[in-house]
Amino acid sequence: MDIRSRVVHGGDQPRDAMGAVSVPIYATATFAHPGVGESTGFDYSRIENPTRTHLERLLADLEQGVDAVACSTGMAALACVGELFAPGDHIIHSDDLYGGSIRYFRTVMAKNGVTFDAVDTNDIEALRAKIGPTTKAIFVETPTNPMMLVTDIAAVAELAREAGLLLIVDNTFLSPYFQNPIRLGANIVVHSGTKYLGGHNDSLAGYVVVDSQELAERIRAIFGSVGYALGPFDAWLQIRGIKTLALRMEASQSNAITIAGWLRGHPKVRAVHYVGLADHPGIEVTRRQSRGFGSMLSFEVDEEATAIAVLNRVRLLQYAESLGGVESLITYPYTQTHADVPDAERRARGINERLLRVSVGVEAASDLIADLAQALT
Ligand SMILES: Cc1ncc(COP(=O)(O)O)c(C=O)c1O
Repeated sequence: MDIRSRVVHGGDQPRDAMGAVSVPIYATATFAHPGVGESTGFDYSRIENPTRTHLERLLADLEQGVDAVACSTGMAALACVGELFAPGDHIIHSDDLYGGSIRYFRTVMAKNGVTFDAVDTNDIEALRAKIGPTTKAIFVETPTNPMMLVTDIAAVAELAREAGLLLIVDNTFLSPYFQNPIRLGANIVVHSGTKYLGGHNDSLAGYVVVDSQELAERIRAIFGSVGYALGPFDAWLQIRGIKTLALRMEASQSNAITIAGWLRGHPKVRAVHYVGLADHPGIEVTRRQSRGFGSMLSFEVDEEATAIAVLNRVRLLQYAESLGGVESLITYPYTQTHADVPDAERRARGINERLLRVSVGVEAASDLIADLAQALT
């Protein structure tokens, strides 16, 4: 089935007994047993809940994985994966990542004895050089937040396979609509469902999707033991959001292409980082591994005062963290998403006081451009 149909009907879901077209919200913590030693298949909502199970099957289908768990946030999903590792393990990650992931690695996981190295995951030899006897996994985000760098997932997957490492990919920015890392050789895909999957800036969620039964069993055991579970109301909001994923991804991408082109011609804009621009260094890899470019972009203006003025003046775009919703949002990575990354590292990666990041929504491109134009004057 085409992904445009799978977002609406995916996951080989059983029909509701009452014929409900919208999956019911099972607002229950526990489930009565039909008899001693018997179960309806659902015992306790921390472990499984029918609304969440529907959503998990849908995610596994969209990402072409064996199983998926739906967590309360994207960070909870990452923490669930983090529990696969033990003190002494070493993980290599892309050097340009969501700041919250870096913070989680360097504080919580480091405290638990896991060590990290950051590299340009497009440089396969640099990546290979970091692999040591305790290395257990490679963690990649592509495209990256906020510099829109692209990693060749299949190339990294080959190296990971050779070295016996897990490849974990954060697929938040393109969503399963545009990119399926498991098809390219990844073992685990994580998502912040708060972003494109939910799509309306009204619910927090996260997902872990795995490529094997063995990983599914390990992740399910951690998920149930720790209690990362997404509640049934948010699971329902996510299911509703995902039904329009295809429409939203296409509409916001089309806007992003128009806006990236317009920003390029603006006299106060020094650089535009958007994967869909013909001269973006990752465009060829993206054409091979993805079905689209997405709708995240960042741009550098001439000076800090211009960046601050834009944030103060925008009216239709909202100055807010997060991304992937129908509403266009603009953020300041230097003091927001990446505030906790050491200054020298931020600057080395181009995250400075002149950089702005836009999550392009589904409004009319002409209105978004008019707003940016008045904010950039
Ligand atoms: C790429 C990426 N991964 C993970 C997360 C964390 O997700 P959440 O905020 O749902 O915990 C975010 C949040 O911004 C993100 O941008």
